[in-house]
Amino acid sequence: MLSTMARVNVELKARDPTPESTLARCIALGAVDQGALEQRDSYFTARRGRLKLRNGDEGSELIAYRRLDSAEQAESTYVLAPVSEPEALSEALDAALGTVVVVSKRRRLFLWEGVRIHLDEVEGLGSFVEFEAVLPAAGHRAEAQAKVNRLRAELGIDDGALVSAGYADLLMDGPQALRRAADSAMRNAYAPYSRFKVGAAVRGGSGAIYAGANVENAAYPQGQCAEASALGALVASGETAITAVAVVAEKLEVCPPCGGCRQRLAEFGGPETPVYLGRPGGTPVEVTLGELLPGSFGREALRE
Ligand code: THU
Repeated sequence: MLSTMARVNVELKARDPTPESTLARCIALGAVDQGALEQRDSYFTARRGRLKLRNGDEGSELIAYRRLDSAEQAESTYVLAPVSEPEALSEALDAALGTVVVVSKRRRLFLWEGVRIHLDEVEGLGSFVEFEAVLPAAGHRAEAQAKVNRLRAELGIDDGALVSAGYADLLMDGPQALRRAADSAMRNAYAPYSRFKVGAAVRGGSGAIYAGANVENAAYPQGQCAEASALGALVASGETAITAVAVVAEKLEVCPPCGGCRQRLAEFGGPETPVYLGRPGGTPVEVTLGELLPGSFGREALRE
């Protein structure tokens, strides 16, 4: 069955500063309009390549794929599995592996000489244009690449607009991934005494995310806040700077970090460091460390 066989694509993706004129050029080229669709891709932690559950107007499928990234053109191999119960599968994969990021987009699809043209509006990222030529056999690569090059010229895509990363990777640098990491840690919180589960995640200077949960103790004062756990993971990995923070709690829509944790966070961040409060799915509340802890005591006070 074709849907479960590995296939190869030639792809190109670029930011689109002028989506209306790109749409007009597609129509002028004679590309066939396949209409608009909504797609929601959930990415789960995978040991090799990427694992995403695609949910949309065209149905649902589980897709395992690997990309060989280059700004010029990307190739990927992938395996598709049709899914009849997407919500149950999403819950199972989230419980077992964890959701890394969710990409929601509105896609206008065109077909031109066997090449799919995607005009995408991606939540949290903006407008993009994408070409996807599916190869009927490996020998057709040059032909597919020539078509993609021709489309690129017709739509006037500059070198500077090319993007080699996937939407999921682009979103990984934003608050969504941080909030999800905090949420995922929160579910593992050890809070049998307060029954108040908290999760925190910090982004280190390297871009990596470190998450932690509150850890309580029968000797109450020995309990530790989620922020302290996340900062411990940061330091244990060799990092000492944070560029963003997310804090979530199970029972509070917005959980402000306690006074002690504001001080802990200020040790590694600056007054402009953004702090995202609230669980993923809800509206994020964005504040800065400086707003949370004005006039703070810092290491400069200890300089002789
Ligand atoms: N807690 C945190 O983990 N972070 C905060 O900023 C607020 C409070 C935890 C500590 C304790 O385990 C529970 O929430 C109730 O106070």
